[in-house]
Amino acid sequence: MEQSRIAVIGGDGIGPEVVEAGIRVLEAANDAAERLSFTRFAWGCEYYLEHGRMMAENGLDTLAGFDATYLGAVGWPPVPHYLSLWNLLLPIRRTFDQYVNLRPARLLRGVESPLANPGNLDVTLVRENTEGEYSDSGGRMFGGTPHEVVIQESVFTRRGVERIVRYAYEEAKGRRGLLVGATKSNGISITMPFFDEVFREVGEEYPEVEASLMHADALAARLVLDPERFDVVVGSNLLGDILSEVTAAICGAIGIAPSANLNPERVHPSLFEPIHGSAPDIAGEGVANPAGAIWAGAMLLEHVGYPEAGARVLAALEETLAHGIKTQDLGGSATTEEVTDAVIERLRSPTV
Ligand code: NAI
Ligand code: MG
Repeated sequence: MEQSRIAVIGGDGIGPEVVEAGIRVLEAANDAAERLSFTRFAWGCEYYLEHGRMMAENGLDTLAGFDATYLGAVGWPPVPHYLSLWNLLLPIRRTFDQYVNLRPARLLRGVESPLANPGNLDVTLVRENTEGEYSDSGGRMFGGTPHEVVIQESVFTRRGVERIVRYAYEEAKGRRGLLVGATKSNGISITMPFFDEVFREVGEEYPEVEASLMHADALAARLVLDPERFDVVVGSNLLGDILSEVTAAICGAIGIAPSANLNPERVHPSLFEPIHGSAPDIAGEGVANPAGAIWAGAMLLEHVGYPEAGARVLAALEETLAHGIKTQDLGGSATTEEVTDAVIERLRSPTV
């Protein structure tokens, strides 16, 4: 049997803790000894402090040889946040053209939403992941003087907007057939009307999808007030980033939410990670919630060809939480290891 080769970047803080938990679960789900092989890379801020770079010099070439990457989180003081992002995650997303950032948000059983009436909350957020507001086009002039000038340009390409919007229509078609495009074309009067235009154009190919555009600020409020009416939401890099944190928060806690950075054409490897960061405040205590990493692992399994095993992982995770075995961020008292053991136990005997 051919193995899927997975590159593992635990990263910093709780990153390695939750990723190791995830690997144990994936191995239990998939008789992984034969089917998946994991190769760990100790890249991140600690590596940076020692070597002056976030990953090995040939890091991207190395990752290119794998079927997927499984990442914990990167970021650790005193390394500036933008530095860890721009020297590890963003180069990976761009080099491997992972233009879809897919963030499912569903209220799992046993998890309490901060909303009084969350209803049947199940939203998939599709965020553009390679261009838009996250651009390095710009600069700073007359630094430190009273007439300092700072410019950072947004980059929206027809190809870039079209492909992310099309991905979202396809996603909606496979779900409840509802799509909302996040815009801000009232204030941002050049790039956002262009986004809207392409959104409508592509929509003509999908008469079966009920599509509409909403300003991102109103949309953020709607997601909190009436989340049940949403199915798929698509947004630019920045708007999608912010809105996905809203959808994650209303599903209980940041520690649960997963994220896939996809190269849908599969020319390059995709990357799977929990959406949370390295959580310096609880790192090393063994109490980090492994749920987001485990859910991201389930998405990885699906992507590399084991959708059935991925579904079993998610079911076992939900079953575990429903039994009240959860970490302190979810109001429980279980450790990372206890949650992980419980998920594995349920995978081995689904009736536990
Ligand atoms: P964070 O997500 O690390 O932490 C925010 C809060 O949520 C903290 O109170 C933390 O304890 C809690 N939390 C997060 N994940 C948790 C988990 N699995 N279980 C229990 N509690 C959890 O965000 P913060 O503090 O803004 O960033 C810390 C570092 O992480 C920074 O260096 C930041 O740049 C980096 N970061 C990295 C990301 C990535 O690698 N994709 C994403 C977000 C932040
Ligand atoms: Mg974010």
